[in-house]
Amino acid sequence: MTDTTTPQRFPPYERHVFICTNERPPGSARGDCASKGAESVLNRFKELVDGLKLKPRIRAQKSGCLDTCELGVSVVVYPEVVWYRQVTLADVDEIVQSHLVNGVPVERLRMHPRPASVSGPVKPIGNA
Ligand code: FES
Repeated sequence: MTDTTTPQRFPPYERHVFICTNERPPGSARGDCASKGAESVLNRFKELVDGLKLKPRIRAQKSGCLDTCELGVSVVVYPEVVWYRQVTLADVDEIVQSHLVNGVPVERLRMHPRPASVSGPVKPIGNA
C-alpha cells in the first residue's frame, strides 16, 4: 500500500522563493509591493524557473505581505533566509543565476546580513 500523505522527499524544494505581491489602498503610508512592480517580478521568477528547468528543485511563488513594505518589492529565499529589498524586474535574472542556481546571494540587494542563527555555507543546487 502506498503512503499518499508523505511527500517523496522533504523538504520538497532545494530553494523556495517568496515574492510579495500585496496591494494596499492608494495613499497607504507604508506603500506596498504591488505598486512597485511585484507582479512583473513574480512572473519573471516563474518564467526563469520554468525556462531553466529548475522545477521541481526550486519553487518561486507569490506571498502576502512580508512586513517589509517600505523596502518592497520584498523577496525572501529559503532555506538560506536571504531577504532582498527593492527588487525590480531588472534584478531577477541576476538573483536566479547567482543565488538560485549557483548559491551566491546578490549582496547589493540584500535587506540585511544573514542571521547568525542560520549556519553553514550557501550551496549551489544539486544536479537533478
Ligand atoms: S506589501 Fe510587500 S512586504 Fe508588505
